[in-house]
Amino acid sequence: MKDLIKRLAEEYGPSGSEGKVTEIIKQEIAPYVDEVKFDKLGSLIAVKKGAGAKVMLAAHADEIGLIITHIDKDGFLRFDTVGGVAIFRLTGMRVVFKDGLIGVINAEKGDPATAGVDKLFIDIGVSSKEEAESKVSVGDFAVFRQDCVDLGNRIVAKAFDDRIGCAVLIETAKRLKNSPNEVHFVFTVQEELGLRGATASAYSVDPDIGIAVDVTRTGDTPESPTMDVSLGKGPAIKVKDSGIVANPKVRDLLVKIAKEQNIPYQFEVLIGGATDASSIERTRGGVPSGVISIPTRYVHSPSEMVDMNDVENSIKLLTSVLEKDLRSEGF
Ligand code: CO
Ligand code: ZN
Repeated sequence: MKDLIKRLAEEYGPSGSEGKVTEIIKQEIAPYVDEVKFDKLGSLIAVKKGAGAKVMLAAHADEIGLIITHIDKDGFLRFDTVGGVAIFRLTGMRVVFKDGLIGVINAEKGDPATAGVDKLFIDIGVSSKEEAESKVSVGDFAVFRQDCVDLGNRIVAKAFDDRIGCAVLIETAKRLKNSPNEVHFVFTVQEELGLRGATASAYSVDPDIGIAVDVTRTGDTPESPTMDVSLGKGPAIKVKDSGIVANPKVRDLLVKIAKEQNIPYQFEVLIGGATDASSIERTRGGVPSGVISIPTRYVHSPSEMVDMNDVENSIKLLTSVLEKDLRSEGF
């Protein structure tokens, strides 16, 4: 599974260009489901048919990135951010474009730690605008270029937000034998720009219950902001973030099943941020929705860290939920 996680995390997939990622997911999940389709915005929907409650699971395929806004006469690229990229992290970073072109980010004179994005540029190793334009154009997207590294129990990569959630959904589909429910595994697009793909796919799936699987930050590093979630202490069951108060029925179901299965869990109250569950919840007449969050250090940095025990326990929790007859649980 670490191999699949590595492939997913290293793949290129900024918001709006998730095709390479969803193609990997399609290949992986197809043998384990009854139907695989793309919706009109590009989200991948894999369905395990069943007569019971309709469940929508969501993990987003996109990642934060950059977009080229201007190419100057010497071939330096100016850019804007796509999603919540922290500008102070960018100086010195390498980025990669869809076709594999690599660039390095640097800053004009002044303090790069406080520079705005307008003071930063990408150098792709050319010496003129013409040469640059033979390789790249305004409107091209780039993402961090980072290897996934295995530190043992903990692994580090770019884009664990939310490729780790994608891996959890794929692995759940592989392990789920008999579910009385109809399960829609949805790999959404453009989450980082405001839950856009999930908004459309939730409407078409029309589920009885929604569960997003995404990352959440932790409070277990030196002098970190207060956050009662730690790496390695189990999946976090969301109570609230800035986009949702998790539906109590869904939250309580997750807690009940974690207890039944002896799966460690933590409660998550996230001060800023939201997940696809917020848009699932508000589709049509409303859908009871909740979130299983994978504790992740350094979210939205080029080096996000997760603990494999949390990943494993998230799969166990999700699989156990789907094995229940959710109609008789009130959905
Ligand atoms: Co994110
Ligand atoms: Zn996310």
